[in-house]
Amino acid sequence: MNALTLSCYAPDNSFVPDSLVSAPRHPALLRRSFRKTFPAAVRGEGVYLWDETGKQYLDFSGSAAVNFIGHGVSEIPAAMAEQARDLEFVHTSQFTTPIAEVYAQELLGFAGEQFRDGAVYFTCGGSESVETALKLARQYQLEVGQGERHQILSRTQSYHGSTLGALSVSGNRRRREIYLPMVREFTHIGIPYCYRCNYDCTDGCRNCGQEYAAELDTAITASDGKVAGFIFEPVSGATLGAVTPPPGYLNSISEICRKHNVLLIADEVMTGMGRTGKNFAVEHWGIMPDILVTAKGLSSGYAPLGAVIMTKKVVDAIANGSGAFLHGFTYNSHPISLAAGQAVLRRIQKQNLVQEADSAKPKSPAENLDTALNRLRSLSAVGDVRGIGLLWAAEFVADQQTKQPFPPQLNFAGQVGQAAVKRGLLVYPMQGCVDGTAGDHLLIAPPAVITRDQVDSAVEQLGDSIEEVSSHIIWSAARFNSSRDHLGE
Ligand SMILES: Cc1ncc(COP(=O)(O)O)c(C=O)c1O
Repeated sequence: MNALTLSCYAPDNSFVPDSLVSAPRHPALLRRSFRKTFPAAVRGEGVYLWDETGKQYLDFSGSAAVNFIGHGVSEIPAAMAEQARDLEFVHTSQFTTPIAEVYAQELLGFAGEQFRDGAVYFTCGGSESVETALKLARQYQLEVGQGERHQILSRTQSYHGSTLGALSVSGNRRRREIYLPMVREFTHIGIPYCYRCNYDCTDGCRNCGQEYAAELDTAITASDGKVAGFIFEPVSGATLGAVTPPPGYLNSISEICRKHNVLLIADEVMTGMGRTGKNFAVEHWGIMPDILVTAKGLSSGYAPLGAVIMTKKVVDAIANGSGAFLHGFTYNSHPISLAAGQAVLRRIQKQNLVQEADSAKPKSPAENLDTALNRLRSLSAVGDVRGIGLLWAAEFVADQQTKQPFPPQLNFAGQVGQAAVKRGLLVYPMQGCVDGTAGDHLLIAPPAVITRDQVDSAVEQLGDSIEEVSSHIIWSAARFNSSRDHLGE
């Protein structure tokens, strides 16, 4: 590593000459990793991004399942600039704004009948929205005279964000591990992951869905009336990779919550705003959460934005109770972010992008993504292909029969990600789907403006990337084995 020399003062205030002090050379920006080089992105248009060297990338993962309307849509910055010219910011303790009131109404309409006469709380992203939802659930229970209820149950192998409250309900082992002494933990129930199920799946997963749902009933009963809410991703996002729920599971989860007066919180940070081919993923299974959390596609990345959408029951409890939600951020309901969100929502509706993301709709790019990705199953390293709409994952295995994962230190998914980047293709590699450490998968979540042809060529490049990494690994293993033979081991 290059070393940068620095002069400094020792703790006793004596001067230390720079020849005696060395520090790692690093940029002023604290990037995600010191071990990876990051190209500098300078432009985006449609499904493409360009770096400063002029290299073009097809954004096959919508960054991290963020971009839904495509890059470089000029009407979005135009709406933001207009808002900024009129009014850049006011504090929500002093003012409301026309953009916030109108956009909240439009978003409630988009969220559906269940949220009629409900309310929206705007934040700057997913984690802030999850924090808001957890506190909202707690305050709701207090307002309705259930002050004992303060626990939030969640599922293993889930991801709800990086702030401490969101981490406490998340199950992603690697992202939580070092912060565990700092977080308050409640029960995590099992999560249906039928490629590697804990239960019997031979009846098309009807039984296993009920077994997993029963875990929630048991956990709520064991808490002795202390559970305020249950948070879940309708389709698992980054941690497990686009796992859809077994039939009947979410309906049972919803009934169990109702039975115990526990608020149902759907975390649709990744799956909301059309990503799965419905406005919100819960609509696929006809369930009605009390609180819906969304971000990412809400602004498609044009501005930091998240939203917590609550039913009339929840908002009325506060309105008719203490009269104020005890929570706030300086930048909640930021007018410029809201202008971006409103323009994005209007674009989604004008261009029928939710239908484009519907994998059940013949001739949609999402339908082609389903077909094309499933062709990858013929590759020996691909164990599973799963997903819905424009949210898919490919899980890699060392052995298709036994489903044995690759050793985590190989970082198979990361290597495929790098091989794809070389070809100008962006995917979202993750590890830990098997047990928090082992297991490799890639998330695929392109913008809804992708064409069927672009899907075909991207999947072909992805297949080539997987083959390249697989053959390299087979070649390395063969070389290792032949050197052992040579040594007579
Ligand atoms: C389901 C889910 N919830 C919450 C978050 C956290 O959102 P953010 O990264 O915007 O804070 C994410 C981010 O990936 C997510 O996928």
